[in-house]
Amino acid sequence: MSGAKNSALPAMAASLLTDSLVLSNVPEVQDILSMGELLMGMGKTGRHEGDHWVLEGSRLHSCEASYELVKKMRASILVLGPLLARYGEVKVAYPGGCNIGARPVDLHIEGLKKMGAKIDVEHGTIHATARRLQGTEIHFDKVTVTGTENLLMAATLAQGTTVINNAAREPEVTDLVRLLKKMGARIGGEGSDTLVVEGVESLGPAEHRIIPDRIEGGTFFVLGALCADELVVRNLEPLHLKSLLSKAGEAGVSFTQEADLIRVKRCLSLKPLDLETQPYPGFPTDMQAQFMVLLTQAEGRSLIRETIFPGRYHHVDELLRLGASLKKRENGEVMVSGPTPLSGAEVTATDLRASACLVIAGLLASGVSVVNDIHHLERGYERLVDKIRSVGGDVGYLL
Ligand code: UD1
Repeated sequence: MSGAKNSALPAMAASLLTDSLVLSNVPEVQDILSMGELLMGMGKTGRHEGDHWVLEGSRLHSCEASYELVKKMRASILVLGPLLARYGEVKVAYPGGCNIGARPVDLHIEGLKKMGAKIDVEHGTIHATARRLQGTEIHFDKVTVTGTENLLMAATLAQGTTVINNAAREPEVTDLVRLLKKMGARIGGEGSDTLVVEGVESLGPAEHRIIPDRIEGGTFFVLGALCADELVVRNLEPLHLKSLLSKAGEAGVSFTQEADLIRVKRCLSLKPLDLETQPYPGFPTDMQAQFMVLLTQAEGRSLIRETIFPGRYHHVDELLRLGASLKKRENGEVMVSGPTPLSGAEVTATDLRASACLVIAGLLASGVSVVNDIHHLERGYERLVDKIRSVGGDVGYLL
């Protein structure tokens, strides 16, 4: 498995807090290239070779993230906290809706305001200024991953102590805490839902290795459980997949785990189950679509409830085209009936994880499937097609 995109993105944004940052195990995916483009466009100097990125420099000639970039990559919002904390000003285009539903950033803005920032949203742009941010107590009404990351980065250079309550506990947040600590930040509560940040005057250079991508790992795990005689998913942290592995166990998937790998085998008789997405350590929303494919093969009725992004069901209509038996209920759940043999068809990817679910479904289906709009996949999965081919999957690009 490659390094985690969702860990590398905030790590790259954190380069704005220091003069020199070296990152390794950074996946080569479109979102990372977009973040690189954003940072270089502001005046950071950077180079990358393979999975290594070096980001240097402190003189920026712009503190602005344009609509073009934010539209392409919502994680551009991650420059808000660090730019405000170090440079006192930032303009970021307000992210619009996206394919997985409404994704507001009000909690980022409210938190920064509470730290003393002046923030106006005008003409579709968030314009924030601050002399020096002030430590304060923040309580997130909802668990937000990038919101926690933004406020955390902002707090490292604030005056005084910031307490972030109901902070996201995702491994990617913890990875960012570890990186910031290497830079000299004073942060307590690592891995918990209360982060305490004592602001410092400045942060120094650091080197950091990004954690493995648990969602890529989970995606291959599902592929193995459906299609493989035996699949060894290497270079991942099984602990980060605890809730997913527990659900897989409940469904009867046969697997073993070691320190940094999981072995999984195709399961011929899967049991149905109920599943609800939750913030970490709950079941990840980014694995909901892939698990839906798994459950099409379970004997009986499963229920899936998406609680993080309630509209994140665009893959349902595409899976129906492949013959899955799925029913969206008025209460926001999807009922999956199985086992249903899938048959190849032409489908369209609608977002990053939905594209992965369609590729898995296509491999499972009889005959040929064509997945259109595969550019979504390239935003976040490094060499997915090559990796699947290397273990015998019959998949390729249509020219
Ligand atoms: C991050 C991940 C994404 C994952 C998601 C949930 C990155 C780059 N992306 O997205 O892959 O699917 O976490 O695990 O790390 N919310 C508000 N107001 C806000 C912020 C969020 O209401 O200001 C709501 C959202 O609409 C959503 C929930 O909070 O319902 C969680 O969203 P959030 O954790 O912020 O998602 P992202 O950080 O955008």
